[in-house]
Amino acid sequence: MAHISPDTASRLKPDLLPVVHTLYTQMCNLQPGEKVLVISDARTPFELVAAFQGMAMTLGAEAVVIEASIPYGGPTYQPGASWSSMVAAAALEANLIIDLAVGYAEFISAAMDRGARVLMPGDGIGGPYLDDMLIRNIRDVDIHALRRSAGRIAQRFTEASKISLITGGSDLLEIDISGLRGEPVDGFLWDPDKGEFKSNYEIMPPAQPGVMIPKGRANGTVCVEGVVLWHQVYHECPREDLRLTFENSRLVDLQGDRNLANRVRRWLETLGDDGAWEGPNHFNIGINPNAMLSQNQEWERIYGSVTCGMGDMSTAGKLLSAGSSMEYAASSVHWDWTILQPEILLDDEVLVRGGVVHDAE
Ligand SMILES: [Fe+2]
Repeated sequence: MAHISPDTASRLKPDLLPVVHTLYTQMCNLQPGEKVLVISDARTPFELVAAFQGMAMTLGAEAVVIEASIPYGGPTYQPGASWSSMVAAAALEANLIIDLAVGYAEFISAAMDRGARVLMPGDGIGGPYLDDMLIRNIRDVDIHALRRSAGRIAQRFTEASKISLITGGSDLLEIDISGLRGEPVDGFLWDPDKGEFKSNYEIMPPAQPGVMIPKGRANGTVCVEGVVLWHQVYHECPREDLRLTFENSRLVDLQGDRNLANRVRRWLETLGDDGAWEGPNHFNIGINPNAMLSQNQEWERIYGSVTCGMGDMSTAGKLLSAGSSMEYAASSVHWDWTILQPEILLDDEVLVRGGVVHDAE
């Protein structure tokens, strides 16, 4: 299991309130009279739900909470989860959805088609860590410096034709990213520099610049020493390096950490879901100096790390890149692996080496 945050006290931390204020005012540009829907489930600490609802009210918005039932299987199974039509109907009315439970879902995509914007601070299993995570990764860093850095790095992904990912000393994975658009994934729906909306779907905490990868673009081997999110309810650290080999964006071999390799292989074989073997389907690096290995999605933002997704990208692709016509893999699951100390080249230019993100202002 991944390392966890030690601070899981169940009471409202006053430090959370200015962070939620920052989220609404600086990152979402919430305006009086707008409709905010907070979606939670029984795993979401009630004081966090109250903080998001109450702060929206304080800012003059109309704020409603819906507590949905806990979906089967945690974040790995999000693409195949089913949700109550009552939640979906409410989502269609919202200007801003604060998603504390759902993650990737078709009804969220439908709400966005109707004009809703979505901020997802965390999903399900990250609930107990959420307040600590938001305070540490938003209040205690310069989120605007992160936003600008993420923008520069996204532009480099856009301009590059190839990613070279070097791990385990000599393992090489090459990904053709020609014609793809880099995404800053910086948590900001609103661009305070330009005074305009820049995104309609964002995930906390900032930032995780990278690129979504259509089918058939990746070949080679990676040596995973960070985290694998495949299990229903927790993120798992390999005890030894896990080596994954890909041919034309399809996982064809798992070696290394015997315990993990055997269980993940068995899981994939028993799923009976051909799309679950597809990937990597997204490639994102962490740039937040305060992110850590918690059970929240902040593990994807650990400074200098890279996280790649497997399985479904068709649902997330609609949320993260509205209007894109790329063909992404489809599956009932989405799983991820993180390499903490990769070397990454964009064409021949160093992006990450020796635990340092190379981003010159
Ligand atoms: Fe992912």
